[in-house]
Amino acid sequence: MTAATDPVSVIGAKRDGGELTTGQIDAVVAGFTAGTVAPEQMSALAMAIVWRGMSRREIADWTAAMIASGRRMDLSGLARGGRELRTVDKHSTGGVGDKITLPLTPLVASYGLAVPQLSGRGLGHTGGTLDKLEAIPGWSASVTPARLRAQLLEVGAVICAASDDLAPADRALYALRDVTGTVASIPLIAASIMSKKIAEGTGALVLDVKVGSGAFMTTYDDAAELARVMVELGSDAGVRTCALLTDMSSPLGRSAGNALEVAEAVEVLAGGGPRDVVELTLALAREMLAAGGLPDVDPAEHLAGGQAMDAWRAMIAAQGGDPGAPLPRAAETCSVAAPSSGFLTRLDALAVGLAAWELGAGRSAPGAAVSPSAGVTWHAAVGDRVSEGAPLLTLHADDPARFDRALARLDGAYEVTSDAPAGLPPVDRVIGRVDPSPASG
Ligand code: URA
Repeated sequence: MTAATDPVSVIGAKRDGGELTTGQIDAVVAGFTAGTVAPEQMSALAMAIVWRGMSRREIADWTAAMIASGRRMDLSGLARGGRELRTVDKHSTGGVGDKITLPLTPLVASYGLAVPQLSGRGLGHTGGTLDKLEAIPGWSASVTPARLRAQLLEVGAVICAASDDLAPADRALYALRDVTGTVASIPLIAASIMSKKIAEGTGALVLDVKVGSGAFMTTYDDAAELARVMVELGSDAGVRTCALLTDMSSPLGRSAGNALEVAEAVEVLAGGGPRDVVELTLALAREMLAAGGLPDVDPAEHLAGGQAMDAWRAMIAAQGGDPGAPLPRAAETCSVAAPSSGFLTRLDALAVGLAAWELGAGRSAPGAAVSPSAGVTWHAAVGDRVSEGAPLLTLHADDPARFDRALARLDGAYEVTSDAPAGLPPVDRVIGRVDPSPASG
């Protein structure tokens, strides 16, 4: 007997712990895209999936159905000087102060690979790459598929918004999950991310799966499971995929906020910048270069030599931005002093992200405006020595009325002790990796 594919039967089957058939998954995702499966039915199914989980076969079917809901991009046949360009992309599961895409994309492109970064906007406490770049005067996130190919050929690097027809089922489902408490599910996150990346048409993909308070996955085991599922989905779809697991218990770099993070990314491209941002950029660049057939290249050379900065300027200018224009600055600042002298032993990523959001750097509803200049800077990283009374954090906002709520988010979010902290995460933040199993790909 074939399983019933009407939405109520599918919801009931998953609610009761059953494994959905390929036909049931195809029917419900296609119906949701066409509007015949109601949002409340899809929400109920998402909640059942959160509770009951999915088998690897169900996750693969769900991913395939979301890809099939839209158009698959074709990035094959890009050639420069008679040589086919290899495409390689990176995706981070999102964290606080995570501006790595900004220096990484032009850095990898400066070695002759094509990097198509279809990115998103932020919702809640994690920032969005497009929101950050929109702090640059004139820069536009809209790039047509034809222009994307042309820019990959001319510059090698594109960071832009995904078109509406790329995995539209995921776009609609993600908006529902966001308001129904159904984001935190390994099957749903893996299928959501990988449907977009596979539909984008990249040849290789490096995943940065964050672990810690500022990430979707707060434990190493959950993050490793998410990474394994995504690496398998990518490899099975013919995308060369690997994942790094990286620490997100404290925020990355020294700033969270749109223009603040662009400024930090530019420092990295100029050969400076916070050590953890530089090291993670290089760690991910090495993976991307290896995936693109350049395993022996040292990406630090193009940060020091200015080639990555040249690629950044070309990438920003190609999308209407002025890479030399001053970035917006907040009208008001407020600083938080170190409570005692000693070592900063804790700075909680989630609290800093929520403070930046309260200041106006993030949005509370899809489509809402963000402030380009709002955010938080911290003047010490975990492990650094601090002096009593010296500024520990600076809050930036257009409206000083926002400071109280941001300060409340930071209450208890940091700790200074007289003893040096033990067991700090590595400076490159890499705490694990997942490669495809020999049988896959
Ligand atoms: N990012 C996505 O694109 N989807 C998720 O489900 C979570 C993070």
